[in-house]
Amino acid sequence: MITLYVEENYEALSRRTADLIGAEIIHNPSCVLGLATGSSPIGTYDCLIKDYKDGKIDFSKVKTVNLDEYIGLEGTHDQSYRYFMNTQLFDHVNIDKSNTNVPDGTAKDIKAAGEAYDELIASFGGTDVQLLGIGENGHIGFNEPGEFVAGTHIVDLSESTILANSRLFNSADEVPRQAITMGLHGIMSAKKIILIASGEKKAEALSKTINGPITPDVPASILQLHPNVVIVADKAASSKA
Ligand code: GLP
Repeated sequence: MITLYVEENYEALSRRTADLIGAEIIHNPSCVLGLATGSSPIGTYDCLIKDYKDGKIDFSKVKTVNLDEYIGLEGTHDQSYRYFMNTQLFDHVNIDKSNTNVPDGTAKDIKAAGEAYDELIASFGGTDVQLLGIGENGHIGFNEPGEFVAGTHIVDLSESTILANSRLFNSADEVPRQAITMGLHGIMSAKKIILIASGEKKAEALSKTINGPITPDVPASILQLHPNVVIVADKAASSKA
């Protein structure tokens, strides 16, 4: 079941999402959070850092599992998702970094790394809350349109994703062509899913996610099968929903 919250703007969307995650941490201090990268969650992470500094939430027992990572980028690379998580959230709260997990894009055996990642998620019984952004083409994590894949796997990035993500690199040529991503079983095994969508560019994908058929052409449409999904969107992103 999908519940849609429409917020006035990105600030309100970020506050709302941080409140939902903060509530989870207060309810269950040892919770497992599934976390996402990209521009969409940055405001949420800022709010969570503020809440931590204000003494409202405590990350000391929280565990995290991230969705994805570029193939070939070390965690120290400033465009790697490990680096993103450290600088946007982990370095600013009292989380134990050994409790944070990001797929290893430099593993020699990516298949084995993927299987180990799925075992980790299964050992938690799935995440308590999985935070998601959404690609302009309806991807979640790096599950690109074309097929539903259950397990953590290596993926060839679509041209549209390379183009969209090139804004963060010096040029499109520098964007890695492959990524390792949590698969759809890992995402859907979450007890609760929160998807955030901001801006007009996401309106079409969001509309198809909520109202369209469940199809590999729009990977996020699989969320219709999950019993507890909250979509937090701003007015622009929800304009076609
Ligand atoms: C990347 C990430 C996704 C993210 C998407 C949207 O491709 N792998 O997890 O949701 O981009 O990013 P943004 O929030 O910057 O629009």
